[in-house]
Amino acid sequence: MTQYAHITGWGMAVPERVMTNDEISRLVDTNDEWIQSRTGIKERRVADAKDTTSSLAAEAARQALEVADLAPEDIDLIIVATSTPDFTFPATASLVQDALGAVRAGAFDLSAACTGFIYALGVAADTIKSGSAKAALVIGAETMSRVLDWKDRGTCILFGDGAGAFVVQGSESPGGVLSVLLRSDGSGGDLLSLAGSGRPRAAGLAGFLDPTVQMNGREVFRFATRVMVASTREAVAAAGKTMADISLIIPHQANRRIIEAAARGLDLPEEKFMINLDRYGNTSTASIPIALCEAVADGRLRPNDYVVFVGFGGGLTWGATTVHWDVTPLPAAATRWHQVGRRTRYGLARVRSFGRRVLRKVEGAVFGSPTAKEDEPPKPPGSKK
Ligand code: ACO
Repeated sequence: MTQYAHITGWGMAVPERVMTNDEISRLVDTNDEWIQSRTGIKERRVADAKDTTSSLAAEAARQALEVADLAPEDIDLIIVATSTPDFTFPATASLVQDALGAVRAGAFDLSAACTGFIYALGVAADTIKSGSAKAALVIGAETMSRVLDWKDRGTCILFGDGAGAFVVQGSESPGGVLSVLLRSDGSGGDLLSLAGSGRPRAAGLAGFLDPTVQMNGREVFRFATRVMVASTREAVAAAGKTMADISLIIPHQANRRIIEAAARGLDLPEEKFMINLDRYGNTSTASIPIALCEAVADGRLRPNDYVVFVGFGGGLTWGATTVHWDVTPLPAAATRWHQVGRRTRYGLARVRSFGRRVLRKVEGAVFGSPTAKEDEPPKPPGSKK
């Protein structure tokens, strides 16, 4: 039977701490008027000591499971798109898997800068359509504030922290994710970068120990306006639809002027675009799912609408997807007992995680390290002793 990949749950989490443009103007030579007129951003959320990429991701995921009325054990796959993982490994997705108690799920991180969420949604949708998974959590989560150069006014004004999550589920009923377009042009990698382990050879150890986002803003701006228009058109055509069928476009929230230019390029009114970057700035992989949550809450997306998600970012990467928004949220009364059950499960997940750590230590103390003999690979049959 053909499987379709439907978005059945969504959730978001942002740090409590709000940072205004005026606050940034005390750190670098800028001002509220410049930032608002050139970007549309008024304020952003910034992680405090208790927030991590994985804690924000797990909170967004819990909300998405609530909406989908699923238990963590129902999830087969967790993908976290992020450029700011808690660790290079373990994957942030594994930390989320443990925090939720999603004991049947595979988990991995995906890196495609701000386009990461579209890539993750595409991978999850294809895994579900192939029948390899029935339910997946797709999460975009970032703590960009920890990788910014707070002395660089060209970048530190733009970004914010947060997380957004979708539950994607398989069903025989047609609809859901209709088309996915993913593209990359690595020749533009130097236009927007965050150093990793390749950096020491290029820039000395100091650059590696404290990497920050480096960006050529003007070039990224020109690239973004071009690919937003082209990829939206392609993704809509690939879904067998026309622009007239599309009720709402949810673009990556980087700069209001980029979205306005895309609207002009597509010959669409700005009202067709969801914009909430004034309150969150550019939350990278989290921006599209956070905007989706607010679009649903504001009644801007209704069952049976067609919606396009379109993004761009470092890599360079870009992508777009057309989705038939055919979800009708479950009535609250039907899910109340499930909610109680899920909250209990999250508590048990913490106990379980702690128990497993203790057990591992006890096993290590009792059995010690494996002997050389146990480590030896088995000899092939007929070989000499
Ligand atoms: N405050 C005041 N002045 C500033 C600031 C600031 N924060 N930043 C730059 N300026 C100055 C510049 O120094 C320049 O001065 P000059 O003319 O004397 O040299 C002037 O303002 C104009 O600079 P531009 O770079 O041309 O400004 P622009 O209008 O292009 O805006 C911006 C800069 C906001 C960075 C814009 O280029 C942009 O948004 N680019 C896209 C960036 C983006 O979307 N990145 C995220 C991609 S997603 C991902 O993967 C992470």
